[in-house]
Amino acid sequence: MDSAEQYYEAKAALEWQIELGADESIGDVPLDRYELVVEVPKPKAAANSKAKPKAAAAPIPIVEVDAVAVAKAAAAGAADLAGLEAALTAFELCEVKLGARKTVFADGNPQARVMIITEAPDRDEDREGKPFVGQAGVLLDRMLAAIGMGRDGPDPASAVYIANIMPWRPPQNRDPSADEIAMMHPFVTRHIELAAPDVIVLMGNNPCQTMLGRKGISRMRGIWEEVLGRPALPMFHPAYLLRSPHAKREAWADLLELKARLT
Ligand code: URA
Repeated sequence: MDSAEQYYEAKAALEWQIELGADESIGDVPLDRYELVVEVPKPKAAANSKAKPKAAAAPIPIVEVDAVAVAKAAAAGAADLAGLEAALTAFELCEVKLGARKTVFADGNPQARVMIITEAPDRDEDREGKPFVGQAGVLLDRMLAAIGMGRDGPDPASAVYIANIMPWRPPQNRDPSADEIAMMHPFVTRHIELAAPDVIVLMGNNPCQTMLGRKGISRMRGIWEEVLGRPALPMFHPAYLLRSPHAKREAWADLLELKARLT
């Protein structure tokens, strides 16, 4: 095989893996699991072959768990943000958590007047355990700086506090399902109650769906809504703005609208 053929064969193998859903490499060398030798323990020889067969074990009853009720109780029991983070980290009923490295709870100033509710962690956030540390986060920080705000500010008037609807990275960055959103709703609601911002920004479709029960961000953006008695402004998500730079004009108008509401 010449080097061009080797290149195309390797490229095709890589593309095939991406289609199967592999989106990062974990080990330095590939592991052929078909070649692994697995030791299967042999069943112990029966001491007396005429011994009576054991009675079948009683079936284990399957108990249906109401994940939303568990989430509501866990969230309601949190007296402060640290307690809520602990409750969320201990919540085991959301399947998305199984594939995630870290629980991404929040970033920024919890005393901020503005709380941004956003979608879900991506790969960088999953690694670092903080929202918006990747490219979309860089853009978000620039957008906020343009109106004199930022997540690092000690002054609550110009600071923001950021939390995700879904604190775990979904596989292949898929949208959370309706069941998963319903499970996260009590946590997000409690998060807003405890942070008590003056104004909420709903960044993207899933935050709108979770907090307002509907989506359609292109129609909803820039129009004030109410969430838990607080003004809430739907805005485009920065990841969408990276893909669709023409929408930055509308995002800028929404930022100015947010700024005006705070003064
Ligand atoms: N997008 C989000 O909505 N949240 C993050 O934390 C990162 C990217």
